[in-house]
Amino acid sequence: MKITFGLPKLPKTGAIAAGVTEGGKLSPTAQEIDRLTGGAVKRALKSGRFAGKKGQLLDLIAPTGISAERVLLVGTGRPADLRDVDLENLGGAVVGRLAASGVKEVAIMVDEIAGFAAKPMQRAALYGFGALLASYRFDKYRTKEKPESKPSLAKVNVLLRGPAAAQKAFAEMEKVAEGVFLTRDLVSEPANVIFPKSLATEARKLSTLGVKLQVLGEKEMKRLGMGALLGVAQGSANEPQLLIMRWDGAPRAKDKRPFAFVGKGVTFDSGGISIKPAANMEDMKWDMGGAGVVIGLMKALAGRKAKVNAVGVCGLVENMPSGTAQRPGDIVTSMSGQTIEVINTDAEGRLVLADALWYVQEKFKPRAIVDLATLTGAIIIALGNEYAGLFSNDDKLAERIAAAGTAVGEPAWRLPLGEAYDKAIDTDAADMKNVGNRAGGSITAAQFLQRFIQKGTPWAHLDIAGVTWATKGKNTVPKGGTGFGVRLLDRLVAEHYEV
Ligand code: BES
Ligand code: MN
Ligand code: ZN
Repeated sequence: MKITFGLPKLPKTGAIAAGVTEGGKLSPTAQEIDRLTGGAVKRALKSGRFAGKKGQLLDLIAPTGISAERVLLVGTGRPADLRDVDLENLGGAVVGRLAASGVKEVAIMVDEIAGFAAKPMQRAALYGFGALLASYRFDKYRTKEKPESKPSLAKVNVLLRGPAAAQKAFAEMEKVAEGVFLTRDLVSEPANVIFPKSLATEARKLSTLGVKLQVLGEKEMKRLGMGALLGVAQGSANEPQLLIMRWDGAPRAKDKRPFAFVGKGVTFDSGGISIKPAANMEDMKWDMGGAGVVIGLMKALAGRKAKVNAVGVCGLVENMPSGTAQRPGDIVTSMSGQTIEVINTDAEGRLVLADALWYVQEKFKPRAIVDLATLTGAIIIALGNEYAGLFSNDDKLAERIAAAGTAVGEPAWRLPLGEAYDKAIDTDAADMKNVGNRAGGSITAAQFLQRFIQKGTPWAHLDIAGVTWATKGKNTVPKGGTGFGVRLLDRLVAEHYEV
């Protein structure tokens, strides 16, 4: 989708999107169209039960008096109530409504209306951002889609006085969207296309943006003693990889320690010998969602040249059952030296993260760590598909993450950690086992991770199992891979960790 910014002139072709506020009050553009069409807008409002509520849409098709093909009335609700995400959602809603409508272009008219908290140029940029995010499709494998159901909309023109400033604000957002799209792509690809080596190859493309990459193979990981990660990988014909990405955007910062992001990259999770049931097992192609977010985030940070030193580390493995697979009861030694009794080979994400987390601390001494993982089915039971689960040993970091999530519409809900939960993974045979009992499954998983966090390092864990894939679309998040986490962490960095 092409997003452009221009001067506020009513276009002669395509669609025009114009605002209507709470109570059916027409924006100046909507008034102008009403005049040109001999009152068609006001009549449509009345017969369409349209009151200008936030997100309400009403289509006028081929109205007499103007040559544009359609007018889309967009309810904004009370302007004073609109947060940035609401504005993005309005931009997304326009694209959602018109994508397959037949029109090729839409002009979003940004009027100067009193009462909005955001300036017209900010509103315009946010409409454009929302429109862009909404336009995402993963359709590369669809060779037989009917022409009439394919998207027709190819261009969104956001029109306002002083478009240059909006264009500039949008340029940064566009870089973030590119990161989100990369994550959505990676998560959507099937496991015969995205496996550890091919995922590392995709990540390597970030080098053109100035990201420094390093990929460790099985031999190097053996040498480092990553027995936990390697145990998961040993049943697969695909070699595991440890992906290390660095964006040094603040070389002259006083505190040069990087912020670390760590991702679970299980490119397919069959469960291993503790094999999963057949129903919905195909979903486990997106069990690399945490790694997908870390890679997309690095793209966003590098793309907008964020003034931060960031490192991304992803453990890339495939969890398969085979004659060489690890067995329930096996005891592995992690890079940290701690031993783990693998009770259930399907609790593999934490094993992968244990070594990736230890590695990033030994190697980079980061100022803080956030890990992301599609870690537990239990988080879906707890929070459904709206909030990510948030766990942290640091209140300030947790609050910052929760606030960033709310601001960008990727919310995270904090759950507790504590000694009593930690006990659940004690075992007689080794330092710990990789599962607790069923109770508090997401918490005991987080406790497991915390055993690999060194004293004094602020750390947060986001369990994104419920939010990585959407079976229902939202305004700016079409169904499929969501990219949840990229915007949240980009915002976290922008607000608190850039110099
Ligand atoms: N990748 C799964 C978690 C998951 C489930 C993600 C559903 C997305 C949707 C993870 O590796 C897993 O299998 N977890 C087990 C842990 C259990 C064995 C303690 C689970 O949640 O059932
Ligand atoms: Mn699993
Ligand atoms: Zn998994």
